[in-house]
Parts: sequence; C-alpha cells; structure tokens
Amino acid sequence: MRMYDIIQKKRDGGRLTDAEIRWFISEYVSGRIPDYQASALCMAIYFCGMTAEETTTLTLAIRDSGEVLDFSGINGIRADKHSTGGVGDKTSLVVIPVVSSLGIKSAKMSGRGLGHTGGTVDKLEAIEGFKTNLSIEKFEAIVNEVGCAIVGQSADLAPADKMLYALRDVTATVDSMPLIASSIMGKKLAADDDCIVLDVKTGSGAFMKTLENSRELAELMVDIGKRAGKKITALITNMDAPLGNKIGNTLEVIEAIEVLNGKGPEDLIEICVALSANILFLADKGILAECEEMARKALTDGSALETFAKMVAAQGGDAEWIYHPEKFPKAAYSKTVLADRDGFIARVDTEGYGVSALLLGAGRNTKEDVIDMTAGIVLRAKTGDFVKAGDPIAELFTSREETLASAEKKLLASTVIEETKPKKIPLILDRVE
Ligand code: URA
Repeated sequence: MRMYDIIQKKRDGGRLTDAEIRWFISEYVSGRIPDYQASALCMAIYFCGMTAEETTTLTLAIRDSGEVLDFSGINGIRADKHSTGGVGDKTSLVVIPVVSSLGIKSAKMSGRGLGHTGGTVDKLEAIEGFKTNLSIEKFEAIVNEVGCAIVGQSADLAPADKMLYALRDVTATVDSMPLIASSIMGKKLAADDDCIVLDVKTGSGAFMKTLENSRELAELMVDIGKRAGKKITALITNMDAPLGNKIGNTLEVIEAIEVLNGKGPEDLIEICVALSANILFLADKGILAECEEMARKALTDGSALETFAKMVAAQGGDAEWIYHPEKFPKAAYSKTVLADRDGFIARVDTEGYGVSALLLGAGRNTKEDVIDMTAGIVLRAKTGDFVKAGDPIAELFTSREETLASAEKKLLASTVIEETKPKKIPLILDRVE
C-alpha cells in the first residue's frame, strides 16, 4: 500500500477500505508515515468527510494502536464521562465525585487544554501536589479505595490519537466530525468502562457550532459505543456562553468546589446534575428523576465534596485546599472590564472568551508553554443580564501584567450589548440514547 494513493483517494471523495485505514494508523504509529502525509490525509478527511463505517474502523484502529486496559480488578460498575470541549467546563471535577459518592467507580483519563478550550488534567494540577501521572496499579488501587481517580491519558493508551491530536491542533483540522468522533471514542473504547455519558457541546464555544452538526456527532459516537457493547448516552449542551462564571485553571477548581459545597452558579449545577443523573441511570440506580434527586443530594449533603477531597489526598494533593479554597495562590494583577454602553448582553462569542483567557496565560499557545494557574476570567455579567455603561462585565486575572490589555480587547470584541433582551436558550438541548 502507498500513503500517496490513500491521500489521493480521500482527496477525490473516495471511500477508504478497512485495510487502508488500519494500515495508515499502524504505519503512522510505527513512524513509517511522516507527519506531512498524515496532515494531508487529515485535511482530506476534513473536506470530504467519512462514512459511518469508515469512522468506526478509524475508531477501532485508534483503540487498537496501544494497550486496551483491563480494569476487572476494580470492584463495581465503572463509568466515565467525556466532553467534546468547552469554555469554563469544569463538570468532570463535580460529576466524578458525585457518582463515586453514590457507589459508581470511575477510573477517569482526562485531557489537557486544547485550543481555546480547557482540560481537566491542567485544572487538577492547580492543586498543590496533585499527581496526574500514576502507575496503573496505583490508579486502580485509588479507585477501589476512594471510588474515583483522575489521571492524564497514559502513553500506551491510544497512541495514534495522541499523535493525530497534536497534528490536528496545529493544522486546523480539529473540528472535523469523523476525526473528533474517532479521537474521543478510540480513547473511550481503550479504557475499560461499562457506562459512558458524553457531553457534546454546541454553539460559539464548541468545536461543532450548530445543533445539527452536534446531533450528528452525538449520534455517531453513541452508535460506535453501542456497537462496542457499551451502555452510552450523549447530552447535547449549550456552549453559546461559558459554563459557570469562572474560566481558568485555579478559578475553575474553586468554582467546582463551590458546587460541591451545594452552592455555585445555576447553569453549572444543572449540567453537572444532568450528567451525573445520566451516569446513575445507565448504572441502573433508578429512573432519571430519582437519579437527579440523588445527584442533587450528594451536592448538598457534603458527600461528593468529601469524595473529591479524599481523591485529591490519595493523588498527592493537599486536601486542606478543598476545604479552604482561600489557600489557592492568587494572581498578581487584575483588571475590571467595563460595559461601554447600556443594554442587555445579547450574545457572546464564547470561543473569544476562551482566547481571552488563553492570552492571560490560562492555556498554551505552543506545546512548550507553561500555564499560569492563577490566570483567568471571572464573569460579572452573562447573556441576558442588563448592564449600564461603566458596569463591570468581567474581571481579568494574570501573573503577566502585559497581557491584560489584549485580553480585555478580545473580551470586549466578543461581547455584544443590545437594547433587546435575548431569548433564553435551554442549556440541555437534546439527549441521544
Ligand atoms: N476531545 C477529544 O478528545 N478529541 C477531539 O478531537 C476533540 C475533543
């Protein structure tokens, strides 16, 4: 087989055979296909798409490119959740302890930030001492003892995804439906879970900007999961506004702790409860309404907070920070962004808010960048709120004072203030079973 022929076939809208897809993945992982040819194929897939069968084959080839984990040593039902990427999305920090406090086991492998979106592993590293690279034995032992653990993706799990992901990040090929579906499901199928709940984001802060595309992506991933024998559900949730009021690593951990304390912003609570309830439902804990009730109770009676603190301690972090979030280091510099006219916040470009946080230092521009854990944004007004000229709409935080001006400019350019109050859009737009 020749890589040239495979690229040409996809470029011309052809359908790749199972053998061609599997050959590409195994040769690429072995280092026999250079990045420039893999990039060309990703771009051809970006423009010409893939059939559901091609996407399923690509997913299975990504899964089989490394170790397929065996967590039979973990006692109980194992569940995971995965988001397609958003701004201010700290739901894993809440959902995993909630379901674990209710008897579900979660051995979660999470990712780092990507483009304008944040990553759970980066967020957890804002907690002093927290280790995200544990041996599989230690990982399994913590899950058995505490109920959950969250680590970075191990080097042996779906290495093809790691390589393709890094390539897509720098070749403008992230937002392709078959590439996203195979990337997420390739990893999920390599981890040994019984139940999976996907949070497919849609809107200005998501990789899929329209509900139609997000629904197609959700259906595709649910179909792949089902064919592989998983219990799987996807929620399609609105990313036309950042989730919660805080964006940035330390700020997001603090906001997750607020929710685990039974407080915090309504939108974040609603999505965390819905995701948790869907996991509990798949794990046969009751009908959805009962599962929602259980999840809400775990947030208000302190049990999810306790599970989170135990997980932090087991992974080397200082659990005192969870009970006393005032211990988290604070940014040296801040700036309040003011509304430039009277009116309602009609809409925001959520991706622009993510980029503003990135400019402050909350994410990476190159693979080598070191994240400023204190950097980020606290929103003082969100879509639908009325503001007067001069009212604060956000506060920016950073350790690098020189970033404040460009971050402010980006945030203002991403905020539309109009006279008419916008129509409220539901947070949970659909559910795909
Ligand atoms: N998350 C992933 O793991 N992969 C993608 O391609 C997009 C979001």
